[in-house]
Amino acid sequence: MIHAKSASIALSALAALGLAQAASAQEVKLTPEQIESNITADHEVDGKWFTKEDIPTFKVQEDGTVDWYTFSGFRRYNSECFVCHGPDGQGSTYAPALAKSMLRLDYYDVLGIVAGGKQQGNLVMPSFGDNKNVMCYLDDIYVYLKAMGMDAIPRGRPAKRADKPDAYKEQEDACMG
Ligand code: HEC
Repeated sequence: MIHAKSASIALSALAALGLAQAASAQEVKLTPEQIESNITADHEVDGKWFTKEDIPTFKVQEDGTVDWYTFSGFRRYNSECFVCHGPDGQGSTYAPALAKSMLRLDYYDVLGIVAGGKQQGNLVMPSFGDNKNVMCYLDDIYVYLKAMGMDAIPRGRPAKRADKPDAYKEQEDACMG
């Protein structure tokens, strides 16, 4: 488990340095145009929601039911990203608040950062490009964090979720091999 190992190295490096940099949890202000192109669910394909510009996004029904991808993203985030980025994508002393990052960053930039990693001084975001448990579920994690960043869902495990779409299962099997 490459990522778990890098996480513990990163965290012990952090402890050694006594680094206590505040997480960048600053507010992200979006224009109505940005919300429409990057956030607002416009159409659905087999249970997966997209904006007008075909960017994956979340969908929360009036009764609070979240789409399957958002729910799945919650679980994947908690197994793969939580250790550094903190509960509910709210950030830690070590890594940024992804719930806000996802509102600010372009979708394709997110894919690039997660696949290739990122380093700024002592801060190391590992590369997950060869980790199927991340790469096969990256859209899930991405839409979950956007929902969190927009305060569209409460913190913690989503209480109600849509069923797993058949198309999701097929894609998952194909991706995981
Ligand atoms: C080992 C700790 C660690 C783990 C695990 C980790 N990250 Fe990171 N991540 C970081 C650090 C540290 C940064 C800041 C890097 C920098 O600024 O150069 C970062 C930055 C990012 C950024 C850029 C954020 C921004 O505002 O620029 C994204 C996106 C990101 N991580 C996504 C993820 C996702 C998705 C996961 C889980 C699949 C994950 N990270 C797991 C440590 C981690």
